Amino acid sequence: MNVGFVGLGAMGSGIVRRLLAAGHDVLGWNRTPAKADALVAEGMRRAGSPSEAAAESDVVFTMLTDARALDAVADEVVGGLRSDSIWLDMSTIAPDQSRALAARVPAGAAFLDAPVSGSLTTLAAGQLSIMVGGDRAAFERVEPLLLDVGPKVTYLGAQGNALLMKMAINLSLVVQGMSFCESVALAENAGIPREAAVDAVLKSVIASPMLQYRGPMILEGGRPETPFADAALQQKDQQLGLALGRELGAPLPFASLANEFLTVCRAAGLGDQEWIAVYDVFRRMGGAA
Ligand SMILES: NC(=O)c1ccc[n+]([C@@H]2O[C@H](COP(=O)([O-])OP(=O)(O)OC[C@H]3O[C@@H](n4cnc5c(N)ncnc54)[C@H](OP(=O)(O)O)[C@@H]3O)[C@@H](O)[C@H]2O)c1
Repeated sequence: MNVGFVGLGAMGSGIVRRLLAAGHDVLGWNRTPAKADALVAEGMRRAGSPSEAAAESDVVFTMLTDARALDAVADEVVGGLRSDSIWLDMSTIAPDQSRALAARVPAGAAFLDAPVSGSLTTLAAGQLSIMVGGDRAAFERVEPLLLDVGPKVTYLGAQGNALLMKMAINLSLVVQGMSFCESVALAENAGIPREAAVDAVLKSVIASPMLQYRGPMILEGGRPETPFADAALQQKDQQLGLALGRELGAPLPFASLANEFLTVCRAAGLGDQEWIAVYDVFRRMGGAA
């Protein structure tokens, strides 16, 4: 399949690298063209616009920050779709925002929501998990392509369902991260060195793939220079999930509290840091300087 790709940020670039490595022809576009230079050097063809990326491809991926960013390119992408094209959106947005985009594709073309669970490390290691919602036949056409990005591809039925599942998982992810910080801060308050506490947690039954890569980030010098997901980006997802809970009448007490800690994180000037920097907040609440 010819692949178009719109949005070559941190995740988009990593996904394109996986597609190129598997031998696919990728025609990519990014709002800030310089961010595409390295990928062009690695074999990606550069599209002049989102509509060109869509028009010359069987499937066009979008991987953008949020619904506002998608709105900025949607007219062009839709304009480039053919009657047999597939628009596969991997961005994390609300299911109803995704359904509104799907309603805009021309007759015959398909729209799939395909959010991902994982991080830059997970992606580079070929372990990204992808969930897909939408037309089953369209899913079956793109499935081999998605398996070249990551080995865990799950079809969840109706369009929007994959995003719903992504919201549910993300709420749990932040709660787990906060709870991890609370436990390590308790240990450190009691005099156990932070390194030893983190090491013990990561060898325990509560160690998850997420804690394996994010846990060490609370150690001295462990925080990545470019965050995998900063507190502001993570709170976008948390608030999408909480809004969904309100809409469905589903109580989300732990996720609500975790959201407040993301707010504290931003108020403490840590909004542009990896969100697990919230550990500093737990330490200060426990009396540390
Ligand atoms: N980072 C993670 O670990 C992770 C994990 C799972 C899911 N996600 C989700 O994946 C999506 C992308 O995340 P990311 O980490 O790749 O973010 P990122 O590095 O900030 O990339 C965002 C992309 O969106 C583009 N963009 C933003 N506003 C735009 C606009 N108005 N018009 C056109 N393009 C626009 C950016 O273009 P410029 O380069 O021009 O700014 C860039 O290509 C998000 O929805 C995020 O929630 C992220």
